[in-house]
Amino acid sequence: MGGDGIGPEVTAQSMKLLEATGIGFDFIKAEIGFEAYKKYGTPLPEKTIKICKKSDAILFGAITTPPNIKGYFSPIVRLRKVLDLYANVRPFKSLPIPDQKQGIDFIIVRENTEDLYVGQEQLTKEGAIAERVITKKGCEKIIKFAFELAKKQSRKKVTVVHKANILRITDGLFLDIAKKISQSYREIIMEDMLVDSCAMQLVKKTEDFDVIVTTNMFGDILSDEAAGLTGGLGVAASSNIGNSQGLFEPVHGSAPKYAGKNIANPMASFLSSTMMLEFLSEDKMAQKMRKSITKTIKLGLTTKDLGGRLKSSEFTDEVIKNL
Ligand code: NAI
Ligand code: MG
Repeated sequence: MGGDGIGPEVTAQSMKLLEATGIGFDFIKAEIGFEAYKKYGTPLPEKTIKICKKSDAILFGAITTPPNIKGYFSPIVRLRKVLDLYANVRPFKSLPIPDQKQGIDFIIVRENTEDLYVGQEQLTKEGAIAERVITKKGCEKIIKFAFELAKKQSRKKVTVVHKANILRITDGLFLDIAKKISQSYREIIMEDMLVDSCAMQLVKKTEDFDVIVTTNMFGDILSDEAAGLTGGLGVAASSNIGNSQGLFEPVHGSAPKYAGKNIANPMASFLSSTMMLEFLSEDKMAQKMRKSITKTIKLGLTTKDLGGRLKSSEFTDEVIKNL
């Protein structure tokens, strides 16, 4: 699903790279976003949902949010709900880019379906109220997911980020459940940290983090902060994981001013594709692909946003050469 703006372009580059792996993908294209809305009157056609449900994995580009259209909704937020993609995973790793802090290698695991993002808001006489929904099941699922991920990747520490000193009931529940679950993972250290303190530590001691697990909104904010510390939007990758489904997407949006010019950095989509390969149990190829990306940027071969001179497609060709 390319979507809008630079979405289809970076996704096409990823498909070229994925084809070069020789794994033999069966790509099925599906429409989503504002372009789909213009054609079908909905940004998320039923056909797209059906195709997603039948697929082994979903690669998504980006979408454009149009100016106020009544009844318009975010198709990607809706799709995450429809497919119950409860875990949002974003890895952050130093890249060999000039001026970038080295030695960073951590992951933020963010709950993806609850919290303030359930969208239950109402006007009252005095002002407005938003509902914060935290369920036991939701906490258990995301915290287990984070510990399992830490175990799979032989990571040493899980930092549980919360604000339980103020949000005693909702975040208190999250923290309690984390403490319980951590007992089943004796080999992994669990620490907990207040979200405001974490925001500061991320800047001061970025390299101290390993796996962070947190609720939806805190995760949303901290992961953009972390992206700023590790190369920016052109390289930030993410995945949305459910019980059986996985959707992989660059963090950036449709960057309309770059669309159609073959200049967008496809690396965020490439790195999302490596996560997709891991999800499909193609770990070796994922590693190989990551190595070829790193090798390419070490050679100074990058797109404009990282100070280089390559077009989108030229960067892809170099990565394929190094694969
Ligand atoms: P954006 O991420 O599209 O672009 C912001 C700036 O980041 C760009 O102007 C560009 O300088 C840089 N950038 C982003 N991706 C890049 C890439 N691959 N290579 C090089 N530079 C890149 O965010 P913006 O401008 O706030 O939003 C544009 C549209 O995208 C809006 O309609 C917004 O609603 C939508 N959006 C969609 C998202 C999604 O599909 N998941 C996420 C964020 C925004
Ligand atoms: Mg965000």
